[in-house]
Amino acid sequence: MSLLKSRHLLGLEYIDAEDITAILNAARSFREVLERPIKKVPTLQGKTVVNLFFEPSTRTRISFELAEKRLSADSVNFSSATSSTKKGETLVDTARNIEAMKIDMVVIRHSSPGAPHLLTRYLSSNIINAGDGAHEHPTQALLDMMTIREKHGDIKGLHVGIVGDISHSRVAISNIHGLLKLGAKVTLCGPATLIPREIEKMGVDSCYHVDELIPKVDILNVLRIQLERQDSGLFPTLREYHNYFGITRQRLEAASKPITIMHPGPINRGVEITSDVADSEHSVILDQVTNGVAIRMAVLYLLAGGENVEIS
Ligand code: CP
Repeated sequence: MSLLKSRHLLGLEYIDAEDITAILNAARSFREVLERPIKKVPTLQGKTVVNLFFEPSTRTRISFELAEKRLSADSVNFSSATSSTKKGETLVDTARNIEAMKIDMVVIRHSSPGAPHLLTRYLSSNIINAGDGAHEHPTQALLDMMTIREKHGDIKGLHVGIVGDISHSRVAISNIHGLLKLGAKVTLCGPATLIPREIEKMGVDSCYHVDELIPKVDILNVLRIQLERQDSGLFPTLREYHNYFGITRQRLEAASKPITIMHPGPINRGVEITSDVADSEHSVILDQVTNGVAIRMAVLYLLAGGENVEIS
């Protein structure tokens, strides 16, 4: 039985501060496991996890796969490019056929918002959302919060700026839910065309000038400008986006204190962030990636009910 209030992780909108904190605390223990010479515990021995990826992914897919292996689960990777979905099979039929092979947990990334929710109606496995359209990416926000806790201690009272294409960002939405639940202040920044109207109703501030934001924040989470949107008319050119919103060392010098720099990846160097900032001493971008494995181990462990656990 799940050690969280839900059997599934569908989004941070649906879980409370207590469960978010439980995941972050468990992840801290698993982070320690990752430093051992033998990075493996028997926690999920006998469990089978299927990674259903209908969209490209580097970090999330490999991170889940490593988390499963380090928990001693059997894991299977599904790629839509080489599957029978190419022959017209529906998502639900594909998932039900895979579940008929006796699996326990499904990790799903899909371009349609709500795809993980749909699977909960048809499968008895635990479902974990690895990114559904522009809706949510809960494990990304959890690893972001873990990284913030590592660097700053308590999240409560910190001011986090999220810069970029908020309208199309599941990372932004999950971060907003999670950070507000743990007591952070959140300000969104980007071109007006990339910030949803009435987003303030979620409890965040928004601004359209990154130079006004920088002096106020402790952390900047810089989002990828999705290159596939450059012909959409939402911003004139990538060069212009960089001129107005790109995070540069020169811009950061306006702040009176060092700002922690985060990015979920993949990075477009020279567009939303310059290389010297991405690779600077205040960047925690690769720490985020490392913490991603620990967070995913924690989520799998807690949803599976914490059996066979020897994490300390
Ligand atoms: N941050 C993130 O979701 O990266 P991938 O698309 O590579 O999984």
